[in-house]
Amino acid sequence: MTKLLIPKELDKYAAEYTSPETKALAALNRETNMKVPMSVMLSGHIQGAFLQMVSHMVKPKQVLEIGTFTGYSAICLAQGLQKDGHLHTIDINEELEDICFRYFCEAGLEGKITQHIGDAAEIIPSFTEPFDIVFIDADKQNYGLYYDLVFDKVVMGGIILADNVLFDGEVVLPEEEQGKNARAMHAFNNKVKDDHRVEQLLLPLRDGIMMMRKVAS
Ligand SMILES: C[S@@+](CC[C@H](N)C(=O)[O-])C[C@H]1O[C@@H](n2cnc3c(N)ncnc32)[C@H](O)[C@@H]1O
Repeated sequence: MTKLLIPKELDKYAAEYTSPETKALAALNRETNMKVPMSVMLSGHIQGAFLQMVSHMVKPKQVLEIGTFTGYSAICLAQGLQKDGHLHTIDINEELEDICFRYFCEAGLEGKITQHIGDAAEIIPSFTEPFDIVFIDADKQNYGLYYDLVFDKVVMGGIILADNVLFDGEVVLPEEEQGKNARAMHAFNNKVKDDHRVEQLLLPLRDGIMMMRKVAS
């Protein structure tokens, strides 16, 4: 998964000219790559720096992440939290809970992040807090559902981000050549494009990030 959208040497250059990973993020990146299957799912240096930048710009009180994996993006998104702010993150895989917790502590974020273990579609309706940022990065088939479930919980002007929206470049292939996840991402992109309640930017960063700003209820 995740072909580079730009030549390798330009990606390397971009990484060199992006603020380096913190010690905790670099260690988490390394440990995930060494020990966790499907480590390619981790956001990584440049995307992580982007998420961190968004978080600092928004200064959120509440963040929701759907798809924690080993916690890399949660740590990035928590960087701009207000003093009393909080990040909720959901993952169905309970085996990742320990590594996440260890690195949340190492990043000095214990008490700032709550991990929810279970199916996102069942957990999202239980939240009552308004979210300033939502990051959708779980099973691709359900992006549309997660978008619908979170929409009313996002503050006006709030930001929704969705990862992998270019799905390895497969979204531009003829439909019969797309896999089911690419087809789901293409359907999601169309859903967002047709939704006048948001302004959106499809950012060709890494595997494609759809960035949406809520402008109407
Ligand atoms: C791409 S990874 C998330 C990567 C992480 N956000 C990061 O950037 O480091 C997707 C995660 O979604 C989780 N997931 C898949 N289906 C889910 C579901 N129905 N509910 C909650 N989490 C789910 C997987 O267990 C996996 O850890």
